[in-house]
Amino acid sequence: MNRLGGIMINSLDSLLLQNILQFGNIGIHVIDNSRKTTIYNSTMAQLEGLEIDQVIGKDLLEIFPSLDEDTSTLIKVLKTREPIFNSTQTYLNFKGHSITTISSTIPLIDNKKIIGAVEIAQDLTHTKILSDQLLELQNALRKDNKGAKPFIKKYSLHNIIGQNDKLIAAKKIAQKACESPSSVLIYGETGTGKEMFAQSIHYNGIRKDKTFIAQNCAAIPDSLLEGILFGTEKGGFTGAIEREGIFEQANGGTLLLDEINSMSLTLQAKLLRVLQEGYIRRVGGTKDIPIDVRIIATTNENPIDSIEKGTLRKDLYYRLNVININIPPLRERLDDIELLTYYFISKYNKILNKNINKVSPDVLKDFKNYFWPGNVRELENFIEGAMNMVSYNDKILNKEDFVTSNFIPSSKEKLIFNNFDNQTLPEMIGNIEQKVINEALKINNYNISNAASFLGIKRQTLQAKIKKYQLMQK
Ligand SMILES: Nc1ncnc2c1ncn2[C@@H]1O[C@H](COP(=O)(O)OP(=O)(O)OP(=O)(O)O)[C@@H](O)[C@H]1O
Ligand SMILES: [Mg+2]
Repeated sequence: MNRLGGIMINSLDSLLLQNILQFGNIGIHVIDNSRKTTIYNSTMAQLEGLEIDQVIGKDLLEIFPSLDEDTSTLIKVLKTREPIFNSTQTYLNFKGHSITTISSTIPLIDNKKIIGAVEIAQDLTHTKILSDQLLELQNALRKDNKGAKPFIKKYSLHNIIGQNDKLIAAKKIAQKACESPSSVLIYGETGTGKEMFAQSIHYNGIRKDKTFIAQNCAAIPDSLLEGILFGTEKGGFTGAIEREGIFEQANGGTLLLDEINSMSLTLQAKLLRVLQEGYIRRVGGTKDIPIDVRIIATTNENPIDSIEKGTLRKDLYYRLNVININIPPLRERLDDIELLTYYFISKYNKILNKNINKVSPDVLKDFKNYFWPGNVRELENFIEGAMNMVSYNDKILNKEDFVTSNFIPSSKEKLIFNNFDNQTLPEMIGNIEQKVINEALKINNYNISNAASFLGIKRQTLQAKIKKYQLMQK
């Protein structure tokens, strides 16, 4: 047995822990209940610009004189016994470098007695720099263009090609949305044109001369996203600088919040408040700043499913879903495939200096049988790839020209359907269900209770299905 941070552990655990402490890319700082450091790993030392030996065994406030009982999260947790999760801090470390971390601080409680606290920190400096640059860039673009147009590819509704009924219905709603400042929620799979719709609504609309800013909510950690959206106020303790967020930058214009269901629930609640009250408060600030921003949000997951899964707040959904646009996936609008194919051929004739005027019927047939997980973007990329293979004198786009896209015969999605020739969806699902139940029974040695809990369903439900499909013949 060994002693590590006041905890008795065996030697294998100790080896494991030491490896995690040493090689994990996470800073770890443990103090005991008298505020003395017992564990301080090299990642934490690097983050804070200190040497491990300087810190081990010393009182926390002796090493970090700028902290006090109220500002040190470790000491706070010792006192309150309540963990603090995911707090972001920007500070100058002991070598004078500006560091941004996201950390969680957790009390160590043994037999109801507090024996210490552990802080786990991750370096976000790089991401923070990127997010700052993003804001600065957006600001600079805005100023260069005298508040008018940031440099982005602009789409309008006539760029959205399609004759399918559902697509035309979506475009009609978008047309109406142009004339209104109400929030819009756009739902569509990846590559169906959500960004095109969002931009069209802005650039065909009453706010077209104002700023349009798009922000992806999935790519950036929550704590930074808050600063990006609402801005930051100079904070003595957090070291944050004063900066306006994209709500202020887009004031009077439109803000596209992409992948809204990836935003944390806490931030979703803050966003809802802003939308309801019409003002924002910068992170670390006290002033309410009135804003008038039109919100367009997108999601590539059915919002009702997201609500059920708990990744989208219902109240925010209702607030955003004032105008609702559903873009059908490409496989549900096969009547658009030929039109889009010719549209992209003519686009790439121009770009690549080619002269294709026809696509062979077997290509179109294969296109109509394909599942299109990447939707219109995928179709466009296929055609761009094929158009690179043809010569100046070729007139017809053939199957052989799609060498680089190996899409049709090897597509996994297509293979799924090969197993279910001419079956309806309920028949396919029934077949899959039978197979899954059979496997679960086999794995659980035909014990129905075990198989039911393996499948996460009630015993009675499983029994009914076994009867329905006449399974259980060993
Ligand atoms: N109806 C369409 N007509 C013409 N081009 C389209 C259409 N739909 C999509 N595209 C093309 O596909 C590309 C992808 O569209 P967009 O970026 O709007 O998709 P998205 O739904 O936002 O995808 P993601 O969820 O991956 O962000 C566009 O840049 C455009 O070239
Ligand atoms: Mg998009």
